[in-house]
Amino acid sequence: MKSGELRQKFLKFFEDRGHKIIPSASLVPPESVELAPTQRVLFTTAGMHPLVPYLLGHPHPEGKRLVNVQRCLRTDDIDDVGDAVHNTFFEMLGNWSLGDYWKKEAISWSYQFLVDVLKLDPKRIYVSVFVGDADAPFDEESYEIWKKLGMPQDHIFRYGKNQNWWGPVGPVGPCGPDTEMFYDLSPQKSGKIDPTADPNRFVEIWNDVFMQYDKQADGTFKSLKQKNVDTGMGLERILAVLALAPTVYETDVFLPLMKLIEDKAANFNIKSARIIADHLRASVFLASDGVIPSNVERGYVLRRLIRRAIRHAYLVQIEGDFLKDCTKTVVKIYGSFYPKLVEFEKSIIDTLTIEEKKFKKALAFGIRQFEKIKGNISATNAFDLYQNYGFPIELTVELAKERNKKVDVLGFEKELKKHQELSKKAGIKTKGGLAVQSDRAAKLHTATHLLHQALRDVLGKHVHQTGSHITEERLRFDFSHFEKLTDEQIRRAENIVNEKIKENLKVNKKTMPKEAADELGAIGLFAEKYKDLVNVYYIGSSNDINNAYSKEFCGGPHAVLTGVLGSFKIIKEESAGANIRRIYATISG
Ligand code: ALA
Repeated sequence: MKSGELRQKFLKFFEDRGHKIIPSASLVPPESVELAPTQRVLFTTAGMHPLVPYLLGHPHPEGKRLVNVQRCLRTDDIDDVGDAVHNTFFEMLGNWSLGDYWKKEAISWSYQFLVDVLKLDPKRIYVSVFVGDADAPFDEESYEIWKKLGMPQDHIFRYGKNQNWWGPVGPVGPCGPDTEMFYDLSPQKSGKIDPTADPNRFVEIWNDVFMQYDKQADGTFKSLKQKNVDTGMGLERILAVLALAPTVYETDVFLPLMKLIEDKAANFNIKSARIIADHLRASVFLASDGVIPSNVERGYVLRRLIRRAIRHAYLVQIEGDFLKDCTKTVVKIYGSFYPKLVEFEKSIIDTLTIEEKKFKKALAFGIRQFEKIKGNISATNAFDLYQNYGFPIELTVELAKERNKKVDVLGFEKELKKHQELSKKAGIKTKGGLAVQSDRAAKLHTATHLLHQALRDVLGKHVHQTGSHITEERLRFDFSHFEKLTDEQIRRAENIVNEKIKENLKVNKKTMPKEAADELGAIGLFAEKYKDLVNVYYIGSSNDINNAYSKEFCGGPHAVLTGVLGSFKIIKEESAGANIRRIYATISG
């Protein structure tokens, strides 16, 4: 069975049983989840994650029975990718009851789907239930349901919290006992049976979680207002089981990408190929959800994934730029189910190839530098590789491991912190008493000016700034406009800003009387204290303010040249009040 058919069969099966199909949420958790700060995680790691508010009792607009295919990203096992079973990105098939049906329906439907729809051999299915402890009793109900369904008793195992308990996602929140389903890949094998002991023989295929508890900050478990069912089945795994494939890399969601890598590699090795395929697939999805490579948070994860993939491409001797072809292949594999990939293909390619260009040259030099280091890698060595060659510390650690060397990671982190503090101080000094701002904030500030002008180009002259807020990670820009921006308008504004960045324009400042600035058409908010004499920052190809692309009242500081902004990406557009729109955007520089 191919992935497309599997997704459709799963959705249909639960739709026929009263479930509403909901779309996959972004890999970047939606605002409703971010609003509960304790739930805040970098990425969507399970199908239930975007549903946390509803598991806690808020009514879901689509009702009490939901089903979907959720794209997920987990980075905990990133170092194990390359073996047969670990992935960063994966898809989770899931169905939910929000205070509606309970164990009997959930378990029966799971079993029915596996046996009647997927035609798995019931004799090769094993299950487990929660054994019970001080927090919650033995899950006898699930045990009895399995028995009634005909599951032999020696196929039903009982485990503790480490195995048969799921959640919460963060330190607190919905969780509960679960029942897991395993499939025996080698029934001809003899010996003692324990589905959790031999991952090469038993593969866990589905997990039905009975979320009836809300874990508290003090570690205790409070009963939830409603009893929920949360299930999750890894799409790649079940595809591999159905195809009798030894690993997920031999299924239709990976094969074309693996073939591309094999064709291009002059010195192929399977582990590197899997790392490249896994990491680039994840990168394409992250970029499609608006993440761009940077040195912080989500952007840093994407940077790590891309740079590690490029390093392994170097290892298997793939010549030339190849991220573009890989992206196209991923879009071909997934485009029909995730149309956003097709729609944003060009911008995804841009995001990935800009990072590729940036890192590729540095990589070869950096590796040469690395090879020169005698003995273990000191904090200074690691910091030099980070600072001058763009090596994420994890990459240095990986290289060191392969050569049986150690890295002073703690020392590196201290060095990095010291450096960040120094550049912050330098920022204050050079900017002569202006607000404390980092280089990155200055760049985001310049991006804000470009965006302001680009929005006026695309939407019209009625666009005026009504607010602006910058953090290390992103800019937020509020402006007057009467309706939601179309995707096309967002893309056009984004493209304009990226063009201005590519042109590497100069950012200049001129102090002049307010009337003169008005006459020049300078835009923007200005503080009252600048009433007579105002500062105008202007961005253009020459020092002539008259021909500048953007002219804006402002206190600075700014980047000196737009090229350092890297690439620009609009993450989100939303309402910020009556006739006020809000844009979140970020840069890679
Ligand atoms: N949330 C459960 C899991 O991720 C279904 O396994």
